[in-house]
Amino acid sequence: MYPLIRNRRLRSSEAIRHLVRETIITPSDFLVPLFVVEGKGVKEEIASMPNYYRLSLDNLEKEVKELWNMGLCAVLLFVKVPDNLKDNAGSEALNDNGLMQLAIKTVKNACPEMLVMTDVALDPYSSYGHDGIVADGQILNDETVEVLAEMSVSHAKAGADFVAPSDMMDGRILSIREALEDEGYTNTGIMSYSAKYASAFYGPFRDALDSAPVDQNNVPKDKKTYQMDSANRFEALRETQQDIDEGADIVMIKPGLCYLDIVREIKNEVDVPVAVYQVSGEYAMVKAAAEKGWLDHDAVMMEQLIAIKRAGANIIASYFAKDAVKLMS
Ligand code: PBG
Repeated sequence: MYPLIRNRRLRSSEAIRHLVRETIITPSDFLVPLFVVEGKGVKEEIASMPNYYRLSLDNLEKEVKELWNMGLCAVLLFVKVPDNLKDNAGSEALNDNGLMQLAIKTVKNACPEMLVMTDVALDPYSSYGHDGIVADGQILNDETVEVLAEMSVSHAKAGADFVAPSDMMDGRILSIREALEDEGYTNTGIMSYSAKYASAFYGPFRDALDSAPVDQNNVPKDKKTYQMDSANRFEALRETQQDIDEGADIVMIKPGLCYLDIVREIKNEVDVPVAVYQVSGEYAMVKAAAEKGWLDHDAVMMEQLIAIKRAGANIIASYFAKDAVKLMS
């Protein structure tokens, strides 16, 4: 007896596949990470991130206009800070005329409607590349949180729409929310990196910002005392729920692909928007394999982005944003 139900009917042409497709990527899904450096006319390719650049403010201005014209409407800003401005306390982070603050103003001037989110953590400003203040080899929690709250206010003052704390200190969302409220920035949102794992996939990003963690003797260190253990699932739910209780408007899981089980679980549990960060190492792997001719770049890129959205992402932070939107149009 032949089967009456044949699932292949719904796969038999591009038209029917299109009609029944459950997950569709659009430009508005993306949050575009951008790396900003000092100088003029600078557009430096990042060695471990082919076709991705560090931009000086003048080129940042051009870039955001281009993104906006492509339908990309949100950026996430990171800065590369010169060594002479780095210290253990991350003091430069609080400079109202620092590179991040100028970058925020540059984007808002060039493209007032572009949504601007900013990374909040001390690592690009820290002489040790850590997200917090270091004392006796420990990363201090509460002292760091105070700086992060001030830093957030400084970003809000410069015009950031959302601050995005990526540091994984305890209690930072509440402190940042309170600091923003105290200073009158009631409309500035918080996108919390709520489930951020201690991941080897951040390597190329640390090249981009020259922010790899080290100790006093310049010996490489990791961030395992604050970022999460990749083996843990319940911890991600707990971290995320706590950040929501403390006032996070959007929560984030990071990295992407290796953690899509966590994305789905969190999506099922919470009712705030869920963001996923497809991180630098994920980008680098696809670029490298494609350069060798081992993988079809565009097909693999789209398959991965679809997987991230299908797993439950409302927002995808990805270095592929531009590539993907170009391919789609
Ligand atoms: C800094 C920060 C990191 C990333 C985003 N914010 C690196 C880190 O925690 O060491 C990683 C992003 C990427 O790899 O693309 N707190």
